[in-house]
Amino acid sequence: MTHDTANAPNDLSAFWMPFTSNRQFKKNPRMFVSAEGMYYKTADGRDVMDGSAGLWCVNAGHKSPLIVEAIAKQAAELDYAPAFQMGHPKAFELATVLRDLAPDPMEHVFFTNSGSESVETALKIALAYHRARGEGTRTRLIGRERGYHGVNFGGISVGGIVNNRKFFGSLLTGVDHMPHTHMPEQNAFTRGQPEHGAYLADNLENIVTLHGAENIAAVIVEPIAGSTGVLIPPKGYLQKLRDICTKHGILLIFDEVITGFGRLGSNFAADHFGVMPDMITTAKGLTNGVIPMGAVLTTGAIHDAFMTGPEEAIELFHGYTYSGNPIACACGLECRFSGWLLGRRAAQSERVAACDRHPQRRSDRRGRARVHPGCPDQARF
Ligand SMILES: Cc1ncc(COP(=O)(O)O)c(C=O)c1O
Repeated sequence: MTHDTANAPNDLSAFWMPFTSNRQFKKNPRMFVSAEGMYYKTADGRDVMDGSAGLWCVNAGHKSPLIVEAIAKQAAELDYAPAFQMGHPKAFELATVLRDLAPDPMEHVFFTNSGSESVETALKIALAYHRARGEGTRTRLIGRERGYHGVNFGGISVGGIVNNRKFFGSLLTGVDHMPHTHMPEQNAFTRGQPEHGAYLADNLENIVTLHGAENIAAVIVEPIAGSTGVLIPPKGYLQKLRDICTKHGILLIFDEVITGFGRLGSNFAADHFGVMPDMITTAKGLTNGVIPMGAVLTTGAIHDAFMTGPEEAIELFHGYTYSGNPIACACGLECRFSGWLLGRRAAQSERVAACDRHPQRRSDRRGRARVHPGCPDQARF
């Protein structure tokens, strides 16, 4: 791409770009200067189709007028309010909407600002939950090879991507990894969930045998792994994980930062696969990528374990300056109508067909549960 210097910032050196070959980029920058619907506009005036919906987050397409309006209105009304010992109505409203949207066992919502923070929050809740119940020896966390759970220390510790881990020291201690489920020899060209591989969940039993269930707090997996290829779980695999966790009192966390909010045609992957975890981590589509926001959904049992002791005591020493930020909440509340890909199956299958006609937009031709990077549309359904 030739770069239009008239439209360019005069100095690219200060911004240390994330997950980017900085030197290469800055020699030949690829700049977007505006966006509309499913297209970006480049600095030299070309339209570029946003086939990946940003980083799997712009589910409703860019610059939805309803989202823009909701944000502007909120900014003019209440731009910020702290969430520690204070509140504002939209945070409670959005939490209730999320509770009602989530599968039944999920009853409470903890707001964060990103997928990485949702993961850290869920891992910390898991540890503190066991401690609150008098099972403080349960400190080990279990992830999976090829897993991506963001970039903070907990997330890279349970994550299974070597370059995200190997530069950063000893990470969290007490972490094990189950094998990944990518088995191209057996499952290549599968339509739907792969037939082979449910037995891989038995590896969790081996880890339990090695360490003792009384030392294990939680297992975290992406129901469909996203960042190392769209890896669809083999038939029966997730249920097996659920059964083993239940048997040993281990919490099961589904990282639905990508799969949440209708990406699989159901509200959450938990609904899609009919397997209920104890916590769900979310972000991305929650606010259409417009304002950073994440949320952890937990069962009533987890939440209630903290609600003991004197009423004036803080039950969980955790939270962020921007947890439940009013503008993010207003954005999420609007996204419920014009962002989350919910109740849109008919429209969606039409768009699925359209996507299938466009080879670059087929995210996984092996599986039925296609995680569409985005078939944006701005209509209210
Ligand atoms: C499954 C999963 N978890 C966590 C994250 C981290 O989210 P964020 O980049 O918002 O911190 C991602 C991001 O792609 C993800 O795909």
